[in-house]
Amino acid sequence: MSTPQSPFRGSVTLDGPSGTGKSSVARGVAARLGAAYLDTGAMYRAATVAVLDAGVDPADAEAVARTVAEAGIVVGTEAGTERVEVGGADVAARIRGAEVTRAVSAVSAVPAVRRQLVAQQRALVAGAEAVVVEGRDIGTVVLPDATLKVYLTAAPEVRAQRRAGQLGVTDAAEIAALAADLRRRDEYDSSRADSPLRPAEDAVVVDSSDLSQAQVVDRIVLLAETAVPAGERR
Ligand code: DC
Repeated sequence: MSTPQSPFRGSVTLDGPSGTGKSSVARGVAARLGAAYLDTGAMYRAATVAVLDAGVDPADAEAVARTVAEAGIVVGTEAGTERVEVGGADVAARIRGAEVTRAVSAVSAVPAVRRQLVAQQRALVAGAEAVVVEGRDIGTVVLPDATLKVYLTAAPEVRAQRRAGQLGVTDAAEIAALAADLRRRDEYDSSRADSPLRPAEDAVVVDSSDLSQAQVVDRIVLLAETAVPAGERR
């Protein structure tokens, strides 16, 4: 059975905290819309790999900025494959490791790092007819004129349960620790001075606590296909 071509043209931003199923939803939406896909979290994670490999302290903002500027970060924009490189080396698996996850909030809070990666993100999506971009500040900072802005959220307990399921964790104390770690990262990302995590004023907030992944994808695809481009709104 062939899938009819989606009529969607434009950009969809998908922001929100970690553990909401955002990446799977974003890839699903991109596939349904026949759109390109950019995971900006992967870029901040790749920057963190460069910082750790250089032996730089993630809290040393100046050294972090210098290292990231010279790192050679490359990410792909295809929904079906994950391409992430630092200085020509494939780091797609390493960016998901615990060491990178621990240090990434500090690296992504450095303003010079954000400026560099935001410029790279805008350049990557500039030529795309249709694109889904996932992150924390895409609707507020990176693409303020996006066709559709979605802020995806879910209750912390639900997010911790989902993460536990992915990791195969069943112990209640470990699940509580996962919830505490999610809250710590939310707090850090929401309270940083530069581009804090928050919904754009014109974002549609989707709470996925009681929805399946397929239901969330369906809802966003419908919103995208009925959205009016920013330039045509009155
Ligand atoms: O979505 P993720 O877990 O892969 O994101 C990794 C980190 O990068 C997370 O701490 C938030 C940060 N991030 C950011 O500050 N801005 C973005 N646009 C995307 C991610």
